[in-house]
Parts: sequence; structure tokens; C-alpha cells
Amino acid sequence: MMKKVLFVCLGNICRSPTAEGVMKALIKQQGLEKQIFCDSAGTIGYHEGNPADARMCRHAQQRGYNLTSISRPVAADVDFRRFDLIIGMDQQNIQDLQALDQAGLFSDKIVKMTDYCRNLNVDAVPDPYYGGEQGFENVIDIIEDACNGLLAELTHGG
Ligand code: 4NP
Repeated sequence: MMKKVLFVCLGNICRSPTAEGVMKALIKQQGLEKQIFCDSAGTIGYHEGNPADARMCRHAQQRGYNLTSISRPVAADVDFRRFDLIIGMDQQNIQDLQALDQAGLFSDKIVKMTDYCRNLNVDAVPDPYYGGEQGFENVIDIIEDACNGLLAELTHGG
């Protein structure tokens, strides 16, 4: 069965587009296109229709990742049903997702990206939007670690 993963951050222009881009690169590398599908969305619709942040794209490109997502807000009912995992980047994302799942029907699907990290000991992918260049590098470091752990979990249960 195809596993479907939705990465979620606040604006869907920095962190979750990077998670989508890194995960898609791993999926392609390993020929898992038929096993794993992924997409990304934001908890706010403010940047809807926009490509990923130019700074984020530049840093991702330097590591060989092409970010192709177009920002969209989470569509609570449809996305919660369609995806097997809804992965937030920080605790605020998790809270916002849980608030969209009023009845708690999908609480098992809502998880945090850093729960999949195997090398870095962190509990969030920090929002890089108002910070400096190092913030974007940090986003990619954490996301690479988490995507490797997530892929291992999806392909052979960890
Ligand atoms: P993201 O970063 O949640 O990683 O896409 C942000 C992008 C935009 C804003 C905040 C965070 N914003 O406030 O506009």
C-alpha cells in the first residue's frame, strides 16, 4: 500500500517545502515512488500560491535539492483523511493541527518531524524566516536527519 505523508509548517514556504524536497530526493534515489507519496502545506494561508522562499531555495539547491512546492493551507478534513502521517515541524504546528482535528479522530496521524531524528538531539525544526543564513542551514541539517529516519520507518519499520 502507498504511504502518504504530509509535511506541515506555518507558512509552507520554508520548512515543509524543504522536508518535501528532501524526502522526494530520497524516494527517487531509492526508487520508492510507488511506495511513498509526499506533499506539504501550511497552518496559515498567508503565502498561498507562492513558491518556496528564495533564501530557502538557494540553501537547498546548494545541497542538491530542488524545491518545487507551491504554498497552500492545510485542508483539514480532506488532508487528515487522505494522508497516513501529518508531520509538523514544531510544537506550535502540532497544536494548530490538533486544533483542526477537534474530535481527535486523527490524533494518531499527527506527529513531529524531530521524532524521526536519529543523529541530532532536537525537538523542533526552528522557523528560519526572520533569522540569518545559518537558520536555513540548520533547517536542512535537521530535515535530512529526520527524513532518513522517516524513510527507514516507512520501509522497514525503523
Ligand atoms: P515556514 O516559515 O513556516 O517554515 O514556511 C515561515 C514563513 C512565513 C512566515 C513565518 C514562517 N510568516 O510569518 O510570514
